[in-house]
Amino acid sequence: MCGIFGYIGKRELKKTLLEGLKRLEYRGYDSAGIAIVNKDSIYLNKVAGKIDDLASKVNFNIPMYNTCGIAHTRWATHGAPTKRNAHPHVDCKGDIAIVHNGIIENYLELKVELLQKGHVFDSDTDSEVIAHLIEEYYAGDLEEAVRKAVQRLRGAYAICVISINEPDKMVAARNGSPLVVGLGDDESFAASDVTPMLRYTKRVIFIKDGEMVVIKRDSIALKTIEGEFVKPEIQQIDWDAAQAERGGYKYFMLKEIFEQPRVMKDTLYGRFSKDGNIEFPQLEDWKDYLRSLRRISIVACGTSYHAGLVSKYFIEEIAGIPVDVDVGSEYRYRYVLPDEESLVIAISQSGETADTLGSVRKINDKAKTLAISNVVGSTLERETDKVINVNAGPEIGVASTKAYTAQLMTMYLFGLYLAQLKDKIDIRDYSKELLKMNEYVEMILREDEKIKAIASKYNHYDNAMYIGRTYNYPSALEGALKLKEISYVNAIGYPAGELKHGPIALLNSNFPVVAINPNSRVYDKMLSNIQEIKARDAKVIALVTEGNDSLNSLCDDIIFIPNIKSVFSPIPIAVAEQLLAYYIADMRGIDVDKPRNLAKSVTVE
Ligand code: AGP
Repeated sequence: MCGIFGYIGKRELKKTLLEGLKRLEYRGYDSAGIAIVNKDSIYLNKVAGKIDDLASKVNFNIPMYNTCGIAHTRWATHGAPTKRNAHPHVDCKGDIAIVHNGIIENYLELKVELLQKGHVFDSDTDSEVIAHLIEEYYAGDLEEAVRKAVQRLRGAYAICVISINEPDKMVAARNGSPLVVGLGDDESFAASDVTPMLRYTKRVIFIKDGEMVVIKRDSIALKTIEGEFVKPEIQQIDWDAAQAERGGYKYFMLKEIFEQPRVMKDTLYGRFSKDGNIEFPQLEDWKDYLRSLRRISIVACGTSYHAGLVSKYFIEEIAGIPVDVDVGSEYRYRYVLPDEESLVIAISQSGETADTLGSVRKINDKAKTLAISNVVGSTLERETDKVINVNAGPEIGVASTKAYTAQLMTMYLFGLYLAQLKDKIDIRDYSKELLKMNEYVEMILREDEKIKAIASKYNHYDNAMYIGRTYNYPSALEGALKLKEISYVNAIGYPAGELKHGPIALLNSNFPVVAINPNSRVYDKMLSNIQEIKARDAKVIALVTEGNDSLNSLCDDIIFIPNIKSVFSPIPIAVAEQLLAYYIADMRGIDVDKPRNLAKSVTVE
């Protein structure tokens, strides 16, 4: 997720762009840049670093008024966070500049085509192909060139384009990534969200997928990318800047929970070849090694550890490779270390967790290491042999939500990749469901009000137990962690089969239980557990597959999840657990984004 911002009008451009960009910093902050049409050239300034670094390195002190400019703050997905990979990107002649938020899935084939036509590239990013594609199509009409270029793109984009040839306009377009246009007094704006423009105007147009807009300082022309005019819906918004950063949500955590349908799609970009096979270009030279892999060790902490546990069950079932999983704080003190026939996978949202890093460093070169990370250029990415980025975008809330489901999606894809390499199974049946995961998550999000109502019945309890089996034993741990870390409820997660070995002694009418029981090979075993629990007067919230009404009378509350393979049920179940924890914490009056004693990244042991 990155932040784009464009301005055309009377104000001093550098100051306006930098101030606006600062408002977008929460969307990404590993590199930044601005480009301004300055008579017959484009002023371009980029840095690998935060927006404040950019502001301190603005190397052009002549004020610029009455022109247009664009700005970008980056969250790297393709290409390390370096100056050359920072946006804006320009065409060969430096006459056209673009900023982009999203992932261009077919950028490699476009780049090959443009290189063959003589274009010279400066960066490793997917975004730069857009600038050269517009140049390729430019024949005196910027709007037409942008239209032809975006019609070639596959994937997600929100772009804003300027050119010295047509300094009286900006052209913006979107598909899959957010884009808002602001209408001021003899000035106009385009941005990823309303935050950079709020101080100047509250009259905005939320651009829809498949639309593009020509933006002048006193007018706009909204069309589809096929060229048909669209009547703009001008809205008056009443958010303040803080609310706008959260997209109108009360907390970042809730915003990030609702971003998950898009994140599910983002994790899939570039992962499937035209013939439906799964591909990881970065693992091409590991194919023979992975085919002969005899063991996998996964190391992670907290929620990432739970993603590792789900991955264990999946990889063992689908690829037949034994997997062990451990938390970093324990793994790093074990004596038995993996050998060259093992693969060590480190899962970390931040890529900076001390115990996970300590574990990887202990491996040294004894085994190959793979990072599953959400932060390009993080320490973990730099200290492992290979990296798969989960593309979840910056996660601001301390409680991990979209990064967790993105980790699961990525590990599911990796497990299928192993199965494909070992020719174990026909993966198409599984891929079909992963390709629809955004819809399954949307189904849970539509239960938001119902889950909120359930939270209102349980937010006064100070204890809770989560239970599950096989794939959803980790779901039980994750649900308990989500609840405990933001609501301070004593929530504990157990494998359901362990109840009779002790935990059931805790249960009474003041100890509600979340029983995770989708259709699966252990459904009947879970049903027996639920009956044992009810016999102790404990209340039960059951998560069951839609269409199964058989537990309605036995359980106190039911949350339905989509009818999908049980191996993939941890994703919609996680979203339901996130909403339940969020509403209980909010009803208990806790700052959900900043729970006590916790930090977003645990960089100490
Ligand atoms: C998740 O909700 C927690 N905030 C925490 O357990 C987190 O998952 C853990 O600290 C690991 O962080 P990482 O993924 O950045 O390594």
